[in-house]
Amino acid sequence: MDSRKINLADKLGRFQEEWTPHIIAALNGQHVKLAKLKGELTWHSHADEDELFLVLDGSLTIQFRDRDVRLEKGEMFVVPRGVEHNPVAPYGASVLLFEPQSTKHTGDVVVQRTVTRQKWIGTMPTTPLSSIDLHRVIRSTHMCIASERFAYLRVKRLPDPVDHLMCFSCGDDKTVVTRESRIHDSDHSAIEAWFRLIEFRIPTPFETPGFLAAIASALAGEGINLLIISTFPHDYVLVRDRELKRATAALQSLGFQIPNPT
Ligand code: NI
Repeated sequence: MDSRKINLADKLGRFQEEWTPHIIAALNGQHVKLAKLKGELTWHSHADEDELFLVLDGSLTIQFRDRDVRLEKGEMFVVPRGVEHNPVAPYGASVLLFEPQSTKHTGDVVVQRTVTRQKWIGTMPTTPLSSIDLHRVIRSTHMCIASERFAYLRVKRLPDPVDHLMCFSCGDDKTVVTRESRIHDSDHSAIEAWFRLIEFRIPTPFETPGFLAAIASALAGEGINLLIISTFPHDYVLVRDRELKRATAALQSLGFQIPNPT
């Protein structure tokens, strides 16, 4: 699967809010957005931006002061910069918008429906690497999921690290991360469980800014918390056992190949 491929129906299925454009791609300083419309927005204009409307479903009337332009499914219109307009969709419509990143939702007019911060669906965060380079790294990263469950333990004295995933000591903070089967090897005062370990064998360790940010952002988008451990050759991410399925789905949509649990 090429994760750069974008399925419009899939993206439209991922939000319900009306009059709330969601960004699905960026190119040449422009954004491609999807929006669901019902009723009317408000009269406004964009002083410096032309705004493209492509109707994917339903019908949309763009009102101008001197005329109406009615668009059916499969039809599009470019509203020129500086021209006052008011999108109206009494029966509902799904539209694709294409406009410069600077375009404000309702121009300089602010109404209750105005969205000031437009969101991405399936976000690829801004990184020093281009998103294409990052995709290349993601696609050549081998990912695997350990079958055993893991727990965080707070300990007074660190055990022999040979038997554990991680033994960390910084002042009073002594933490062990270990497999379920090894928990009783250490005398702990607190436990946080259960977690699953996802291993990323990245081709360029230490050299891929944005790699862990992309993972963290994809999981955050699904409301999933993650814990990160990096070693010499690999990056590891721990997620809650109950969230593993959703986490792997989010990673898959980022472009990782999902293996069977090992
Ligand atoms: Ni507009």
